[in-house]
Amino acid sequence: MTPPRHASKPVDRQTTHCADASGSAFARDLVAGLSATPRQISPKYFYDTAGSEIFERICELPEYYPTRTEMGLLMAHADEIAALAGPRAEIVEFGAGALQKIRLLLDAFDAPAGYLPIDISGEHLNAAAAELRREYPQLAIQPVTADYTQRLLLPAPAAGAGRRVGFFPGSTIGNFTPSEALRFLEVAAQVLRGGALLIGADLVKDPATLHAAYNDAQGVTAAFNLNLLARANRELGADFDLDGFAHHAFYNVPAKRIEMHLVSRRDQEVHLAGQNFTLAEGDSIHTENSHKFTLAGLRELAAQAGFTAGPAWTDPDGLFSLHWLQAPAA
Ligand code: AVJ
Repeated sequence: MTPPRHASKPVDRQTTHCADASGSAFARDLVAGLSATPRQISPKYFYDTAGSEIFERICELPEYYPTRTEMGLLMAHADEIAALAGPRAEIVEFGAGALQKIRLLLDAFDAPAGYLPIDISGEHLNAAAAELRREYPQLAIQPVTADYTQRLLLPAPAAGAGRRVGFFPGSTIGNFTPSEALRFLEVAAQVLRGGALLIGADLVKDPATLHAAYNDAQGVTAAFNLNLLARANRELGADFDLDGFAHHAFYNVPAKRIEMHLVSRRDQEVHLAGQNFTLAEGDSIHTENSHKFTLAGLRELAAQAGFTAGPAWTDPDGLFSLHWLQAPAA
C-alpha cells in the first residue's frame, strides 16, 4: 500500500519502469522506527510482492476467518449493495489486493463506469489492473499509485458516471490508530462526496478466536511478519538474521487490538543504511496493530468523519461486519 508525498497520479500504462512509491520511504521509516522507543514499523511495508503472496495464503487459512466471512457478506448482500450504489458507479478501492472481492461488486453493480484502485505498490497495482482489463474490457480502469494514508488526489469523475463508491474491505482500517482511522475516514468522505463508502471491519470477539487467527498452525502469519525483515535485506541491503527473530502476536484486550511483534531471540546487531542497531534478547519491533470494532463503534467513528451510517451487515456468528456509509453531499 507508498507514495510520493507530492502527488498521486494515474500510472502510465506504457512504462514498465514505473517507480514504486515505497522504496525510499521504507528505508527512511525503518531507520526511524528502529531508532524509536518502542521500535516499530508500519504494517503497510508488509506488502511487497512476496508479502502480498504470503498474505493471500493467510486469507485461505482455516484460522483466518475475516476473508471468507467478508466474501460471504458481499455475496449475500450484493444485490442490496448494488441498489445502494446505483447505475454507472465508479468504484474507488483503497488498496488493490482484493481481486475476488472487486469482481463480486463489478458483477453485481448496474453497468459500473469505472474502477480506480489506489495502492502504494505500483507493481502490485499494475498486475491487478492488467488482470481486470482482460476480464472487463469495457470498464475504465485507472490505477492510482499513492499512499492513501497521506494525501489523496483522484482523477475527475468520468462524464456520465454515477456515484463514486469507495471500497475498503478486509478490515484494513484496523491497521490505523483510532485517530488515523478518523483522519482516513475524513479524507475518504471528501474524495467520495455525493457517494458512499463500503467498508469491512473485523469485530471484537473472544480472544481465543482472535489469537488463533494470528497464530496459525502452519506458521504462515509468522512468515508474513518475518518477510518484513527479508524485504529490508532484499531492498535496503540490511543484514537481519531471520532466525534471530520470533513472531509474537497477541490480543491486547483493553486496546481491542491484535498486536504483532518481531522479538529478538538473542543479543544482536543489525546494519542498515550505514547505521548499527543493537537489540537485546527479548527486545521487540512492533510491526502491526489490527484493531477490532463493535458495530456501534465503527458507526460512531464514521459519523464523526461526516458520514451518515447506512445499513450494516454481519454474519450469524458476529465475526465480521460490512458497512454502507453515505458520504456528505457533493
Ligand atoms: C489486512 C490488515 C486486515 O489485520 O488481519 C493478517 C493483516 N496481519 N494477518 C489483519 C494481517 C496478520 C490483516 N489486514
